[in-house]
Amino acid sequence: MASVLLHGAMTDKTSKSKVLLTGRFPDVVLQDLQTAWDLEPYIEDRPMERAMLLDLIADKEGLIPMITEMVDAELLDRAPRLRMVACMGVGYNNIDVAAATARGVLVSNTPDVLTDATADLTFALILALLRRIVDLDRRMRRGEFRFFAPMQFLSTEVTGKTLGIVGFGRIGKAVAKRARGFDMRVLYHDVQKVGRSAEHGPDPEYADLERLLRESDVVSLHVPLTSETRHLIGRRELSLMKPTAYLVNVARGPVVDEQALLDALKGWRLAGAGLDVYEHEPAVTPGLTDLENVVLLPHVGSATIETRIKMASLAAENLRLGLTGGTPPNLLNPEAIFNRRK
Ligand code: 8YV
Repeated sequence: MASVLLHGAMTDKTSKSKVLLTGRFPDVVLQDLQTAWDLEPYIEDRPMERAMLLDLIADKEGLIPMITEMVDAELLDRAPRLRMVACMGVGYNNIDVAAATARGVLVSNTPDVLTDATADLTFALILALLRRIVDLDRRMRRGEFRFFAPMQFLSTEVTGKTLGIVGFGRIGKAVAKRARGFDMRVLYHDVQKVGRSAEHGPDPEYADLERLLRESDVVSLHVPLTSETRHLIGRRELSLMKPTAYLVNVARGPVVDEQALLDALKGWRLAGAGLDVYEHEPAVTPGLTDLENVVLLPHVGSATIETRIKMASLAAENLRLGLTGGTPPNLLNPEAIFNRRK
């Protein structure tokens, strides 16, 4: 265990709050954390084992978990001194926020700073799918480009197509903004109807989910994972989409029934899919990797160096305020302020 942990400075340990960090952070932020706290960082590039997490959390006041760590009632009950959980990421489906609130533990996430990176990646997937970038790259490497021919290697135009955005929060809106540059018609679906917004350009048009699925050439998912959105896109929803349409998921894997998606793709009832997240992450439903019209990425929506530094810094700032009696800027459970642990 000792080999994968970096122990903080031995000086001044008693006066500093104990903090556990479960993922590798950019050096610049890690150094700040080590100065400020009695930090127990984890420097492996793989998720921390549950048993190790349950062991290490016992005496901690602060926790910076990755999306791979479940912060549930069991963990919280092992952590009687825990006061602040500062997630690194905007999605926090791995955290039982109600259980944290009930115990007076504050929880925060890192919205905004990853919006552009995630919206950029969404567009990378849209372009890669419709223009067959990955498929054609593979064909080049196999020596299939032997001569130019006007009707060979054809793909689908992005400009002017209809983009259906499911989940019109920060990232969904940023995707809509990029779609304007491609003269796309944008439909959106959200639990909240959002009116026209000057900031994000004219005419994103609200549609119920069924109409959005029927009319879109590309359906892009940007909802959080909740009990309501689990399998939001299942067999029935996929059957409503045009056989020429593409599905893009940079949100959370379980929003899509992955077996139903595979069946639709194999039956040519859908033109293709671009996935950054998986129902049983990191496993991919067997069969998906055999398909040429599928582009698969390893959960890298926010994985630019610039954005990861911003996410880590924001998580550190939320932690600092949570542990020093302030109000973290991205507090998810403001009601916990009233019974916060001292
Ligand atoms: C992060 C993400 O990589 O922010 C999110 O919700 O899915 C990713 O951007 C992940 O959460 C890291 O913990």
